Amino acid sequence: MSVEQPESTAPPEGSVEESSSDPSRRAFIASTAVVGGAVVTSGLAVGPSVFGAEAAAAAEAAPTSRVSLSVNGRRHTVTVDNRTSLLDLLREHLDLTGSKKGCNAGACGACTVLVDGRRVNSCLTLAVRLDGAEITTVEGLAKGERLHPLQQAFIDQDAFQCGFCTPGQIMSGVGCVQEGHTGSPEEIREFRSGNICRCGCYVKIVRAVEQAAHGK
Ligand code: FES
Ligand code: FES
Repeated sequence: MSVEQPESTAPPEGSVEESSSDPSRRAFIASTAVVGGAVVTSGLAVGPSVFGAEAAAAAEAAPTSRVSLSVNGRRHTVTVDNRTSLLDLLREHLDLTGSKKGCNAGACGACTVLVDGRRVNSCLTLAVRLDGAEITTVEGLAKGERLHPLQQAFIDQDAFQCGFCTPGQIMSGVGCVQEGHTGSPEEIREFRSGNICRCGCYVKIVRAVEQAAHGK
């Protein structure tokens, strides 16, 4: 005698049960929509104005500092975001665009300037650390119409092609001469090895530094 079994209502193993009274994750996601830039979730609308307000509040909250420093003999006092690099301070706040942003990561030397007489990569130097410092950029080398000897030497030796690296090369060369690291072409190369020239003008750059250092 066979006994008829009632049809099972249990869900198969591994499946996810969904019910209208207790929505599953899939049902929840289905009820969430992005409409015209506003996220609508279960009746809660979060529009762009809220995100904009959050971004504005975050920007307002960015800590700032007042920095007073001398650039090419002129004193400047500016209020900057604490994350501002010296390179951005020069280029974006003081309109001194001679120093170039090549890599912005300390690898090319295009941003080289002198801080209190020492060569630095301005892209890696925080402006807020320089209160009271004396900065020299390529714009500050010439005396009126008279070029700095190294600027003149770069022209005499034809030591550039595109010129993008040249301000950094010149500032690094000025530092190199001041430090006395010009005893030989090898020494000049060694102490300027952080300045990259994609045009490959290295031979003439070394000659220009020699000319400025030794007048030859
Ligand atoms: Fe500063 Fe390249 S831009 S090292
Ligand atoms: Fe072009 Fe140096 S002259 S990168």
